Amino acid sequence: MPHPDLTVKIGKLILKNPVIVSSGTFGFGEEFEDFFDLNQLGAIIPKGISLIPMVGNPPPRIFETEGGILNSIGLQNPGFQAFIKNKLPYYRGLKTHLIINFFGNTQKEYIELARRFDQVPAISALEMNISCPNIKRDGIVFGTDPQMAYRLVQAVRKVTILTLIVKLSPNVTDIGLMAKSVEEGGADAVSLVNTFRAMAINIHTRKPELGNMIGGLSGPAIKPIALRMVWEVSQAVQVPVIGMGGIMNAEDAIEFILAGASAIQIGTANLINPKTGMEVIQGIKKYLVQNKINHVQKLIGTFKIPNAP
Ligand SMILES: Cc1cc2nc3c(=O)[nH]c(=O)nc-3n(C[C@H](O)[C@H](O)[C@H](O)COP(=O)(O)O)c2cc1C
Repeated sequence: MPHPDLTVKIGKLILKNPVIVSSGTFGFGEEFEDFFDLNQLGAIIPKGISLIPMVGNPPPRIFETEGGILNSIGLQNPGFQAFIKNKLPYYRGLKTHLIINFFGNTQKEYIELARRFDQVPAISALEMNISCPNIKRDGIVFGTDPQMAYRLVQAVRKVTILTLIVKLSPNVTDIGLMAKSVEEGGADAVSLVNTFRAMAINIHTRKPELGNMIGGLSGPAIKPIALRMVWEVSQAVQVPVIGMGGIMNAEDAIEFILAGASAIQIGTANLINPKTGMEVIQGIKKYLVQNKINHVQKLIGTFKIPNAP
């Protein structure tokens, strides 16, 4: 069996394989084109886009920690108009799916962006980042309040027919509950995890290592927690789950698939080895051949629970 089938389905999308590069860690794609043929990827997710341009947080914005990185980029991006004008044409030449990661500061902004992106050809799906504070509601993060998340997804669902993926924050007590809420709101899929709120202090200056003091932790340090969350979410919802958090190689990716992920995203690993995406695709293929499995879909959620009948 030399060519196992790697295709997976996320909402209306058929991905040629389950490997996606995650938002904020792969630039706008073209920065990586010298390293490998980007058309090999299941999908590309560029940096998160807001309605108006954002300058981001004060530096330093990245700090390396044990087994991971802290970042406080602050969602810097060129905004909707400049993205469409300057960045989108590049993707028209690619033969992989473009998934747009977007966010707003208010429900109105989320709706407006989804409505606008819905009209743009060349976009395959939307990934809605709900790990942002609602500035009209005293900064309560949409993604940590199940009711607020439900209402937000329900409102966005009404303005787009594109596959709607909701990206969950891990900074909650019960991520299964959050996933259930956004599924009920109309999400076609959920992706998780975003970064964990975290910080570091320089003992010599006694100041925070990040200009913004608090940032998000990603990379191998978070993998076991992310894996547990993907497992819990896959038990809580019917819609496909896209797993991420510290995936560095094919073995990590396969763990997430066994835990219930239909697809996976590569994040921090892109910053260390820009070819990780390609290597993970090859590694998954090899594993399927070695284990005589003819379709990657047969692997999803097949983690064997001890003592299960
Ligand atoms: C530098 C950096 C920038 C990021 N920017 C975004 C972003 O704009 N939107 C988003 O939804 N997630 C963003 N993320 C989160 C990643 O997409 C991913 O969810 C997270 O890093 C966990 O995966 P990893 O451990 O494989 O990196 C960013 C992460 C990093 C490290």
